[in-house]
Amino acid sequence: MTKIYGHRGSKGTYPENTLLSFQKAIESGVEGLELDVHMTKDGEIVVIHDETLERTTNGAGSIKDLTLAELKQYSTGVKFNTFANYTQSWDEERIPTLQEVLELLKHTNIELNIELKTYIHTYPGIERKLVNIVHEYAGERRVVYSSFHLPSLIRLKQEDNDAQIALLLNQLISNPLDYIDTFDLESIHIDKDLILHDPYHFFKELAPKLRVWTVNEEEEMKKLLQLGVEAIITDYPEMAISLATTV
Ligand code: G3P
Ligand code: CA
Repeated sequence: MTKIYGHRGSKGTYPENTLLSFQKAIESGVEGLELDVHMTKDGEIVVIHDETLERTTNGAGSIKDLTLAELKQYSTGVKFNTFANYTQSWDEERIPTLQEVLELLKHTNIELNIELKTYIHTYPGIERKLVNIVHEYAGERRVVYSSFHLPSLIRLKQEDNDAQIALLLNQLISNPLDYIDTFDLESIHIDKDLILHDPYHFFKELAPKLRVWTVNEEEEMKKLLQLGVEAIITDYPEMAISLATTV
């Protein structure tokens, strides 16, 4: 049965990659959460999509040039006051650490997909830090690391041979199975358009191994549920969950 993952939490309805957004996704009944990580100047792993603060916070600058204490000054909610469900309490939201998200998940068995957004040289040592935090705080839950950059995934495997890794894919390849075998991938995380418009059936046959992003339209969700993909990653987990119970 297809699992539903909340993309950056419940990104369609709440400020992305915040504890609020993750909490709301949990309440809607997701089986998994997707989030993005970067590393601060003082070596802390934080959950934010961009390398810089400007788009999602009221701060400015690059994550790698700021300490965690400096990052925590800025709000991740204040810019989202155009959302219909906005309340001023959102202004208190801060960039969470990975550890804080894992604390939030502590009494659940929700799966976690950690996406490394950057190239291997951006944050030296990030893979080791990730593996250490996951070992200490993730408990028994499934954790899947994903990246568009194979070298990051290979380094993660070097740090932890049991790490589950998934390649992010947004362009057509004719040999997905070879990738899976060669790099010991647990899955491919694939752009929805590649599987929904897949004339050669490179991917449709692999559906049970694929997690598909970012699926926000009802008709697309229905098609992917029928194909039996491993998971749908969506900004609207509530909608996907209600469809998954009817398809
Ligand atoms: O994990 C899939 C998806 O999150 C990749 O794209 O830009 O939303 O991080 P992006
Ligand atoms: Ca992501």
